[in-house]
Amino acid sequence: MIWAAVFLVAASRVDADPYAWGDFFHSCHPLLEEHHSPIDLDVHMRRDSSLEALQLHGFDELQEGHWTLENDGHSVLLSLGSGMSVSGGGLPGLFHTLQLHFHWGSPSSNGSEHTLYSRRFPMEMHIVNMKSVHPNMSAALEDPTGLAVLGFFIDVVYADNVHFSHISQKLSSVAHKGQVTKIRPFPLMSLLPKHNLSQYYRYHGSLTTPPCSQSVVWTLYEVPVYISWTQLAQFTSQIFSTEEDAEQVTPLQNNYRHIHPTYSRVVSASRDAGLVSSGAAGRPVGLCHFICVVCLLRLLASVL
Ligand SMILES: *[C@@H]1O[C@H](CO)[C@@H](O)[C@H](O)[C@H]1NC(C)=O
Ligand SMILES: *[C@@H]1O[C@H](CO)[C@@H](O)[C@H](O)[C@H]1NC(C)=O
Ligand SMILES: *[C@@H]1O[C@H](CO)[C@@H](O)[C@H](O)[C@H]1NC(C)=O
Ligand SMILES: [Zn+2]
Repeated sequence: MIWAAVFLVAASRVDADPYAWGDFFHSCHPLLEEHHSPIDLDVHMRRDSSLEALQLHGFDELQEGHWTLENDGHSVLLSLGSGMSVSGGGLPGLFHTLQLHFHWGSPSSNGSEHTLYSRRFPMEMHIVNMKSVHPNMSAALEDPTGLAVLGFFIDVVYADNVHFSHISQKLSSVAHKGQVTKIRPFPLMSLLPKHNLSQYYRYHGSLTTPPCSQSVVWTLYEVPVYISWTQLAQFTSQIFSTEEDAEQVTPLQNNYRHIHPTYSRVVSASRDAGLVSSGAAGRPVGLCHFICVVCLLRLLASVL
């Protein structure tokens, strides 16, 4: 995920390659047992039946004023005013909704940040929320649960998503880095899957862009948002990481960070989430694999 102001300070030094961020931001060079994002969501998830649907306050209302859509050179970001917040679903308190933005791949590759059973989706949308007790982002980034990010996988079908057009129709106005345009507010709920919002995964991790702070309570929804191939292509081939008058025009593509190990973290599945193989929940698979490899080696040794 991206937070604009932190990014602005750092932007000029941020290499396009996430593996190189650690050279400038030590906090982006994960040490053993650190809690970074994104991760692969897989069979190691544990059911937590206390995790019910989050409350999305103001998401189905028409917000006043206007929203702003911006190309910051790393993503397309929609600032959402101050009328919405999220709580419940195991979140520690109330979180004010700030902005949403997207991660994508290229015309020939998928670009979600998280993967689900190793599958990478075409895109991922992040709705960023800050804990209400914090006066500013720097304070929130010092808190291990200072931010709550709602992540939605975006998958592709033939039909246009008319609600998503509120954003995709405006993309041509922010094709180049630094461009900003106004968007008339629409009920944010219309962007989200109609049903299935009680089906999600939860873990503690980090920002996926510098400074990579380990301050995010992640909620990854199981059911994707669907857009059309045409709408996807507007991101993968018509957005640029360079300014309009740049000598060399560079498409903004593959703006996702690589997958990180979960280490000892618990990844929970909500009460209603479907994709958990119950037999595997909580099993120390790592140890099992290790033992199996030892067995195999012994077997080989005895054969040879
Ligand atoms: C990329 O996304 C498409 C469309 O959802 C999917 O069919 C394909 O399996 C994905 N590819 C990978 C490598 O995950
Ligand atoms: C952010 O809030 C903290 C805590 O109140 C305060 O100490 C700090 O000066 C604020 N930082 C900025 C940049 O406003
Ligand atoms: C979404 O929710 C509906 C109604 O609760 C359910 O029948 C359906 O299986 C869910 N879809 C997925 C993909 O889990
Ligand atoms: Zn993001």
